[in-house]
Amino acid sequence: MTHNLPKLPYEINELTPYISVETFEYHYGKHHKAYIDNLNNLIIWTEFENLSLEEIIKKAPAWGVFNNAAQVWNHTFYFSWFTPNSTKIPMKKTLELINRDFGSFENFKELFNKSATSNFGSGWTWLVLNKEWKLEIINTSNAWNILTMEDKKALLTCDVWEHAYYIDTRNSRPKYLENFWNIIDWEKIESFL
Ligand SMILES: [Fe+2]
Repeated sequence: MTHNLPKLPYEINELTPYISVETFEYHYGKHHKAYIDNLNNLIIWTEFENLSLEEIIKKAPAWGVFNNAAQVWNHTFYFSWFTPNSTKIPMKKTLELINRDFGSFENFKELFNKSATSNFGSGWTWLVLNKEWKLEIINTSNAWNILTMEDKKALLTCDVWEHAYYIDTRNSRPKYLENFWNIIDWEKIESFL
């Protein structure tokens, strides 16, 4: 099975000024694509060759194949959760859960930002729903993702690798996060609840 770069649900010039075309050209066109190319090369003639991306992530040992497969999944999830027509606030069911578990949307954003800015080095910050139907904010390092945690379902992720923001906001991860909140597809998140 060959893995392909997924088509984005928007044009790469539609999220300006929050994410620039140049960032898309590098982050989606080069980084995301490289993970896919690496994965396709690594799985040839192996037990992973005919498995789905999700199956590879769950079965592969924690290096080469796993890292590239997980990064493909993480980037596809991250890029697909943006929209140029963001409501900028969560929809009804999502907002109820956020208010219940974090007090308010503002408080949730502050906690998510704190978690993302303190995620040391390269990684991902996630909003997840656990088996008890409670929301949690969690950090993962490098390629690790939510598919490896059976009791959690991902609702949102923020890529905090420097390649996600260095072109647009240089060394400022907080400025990148400020932009991030303007392009989230809350309607999509609502549909997962
Ligand atoms: Fe990335």
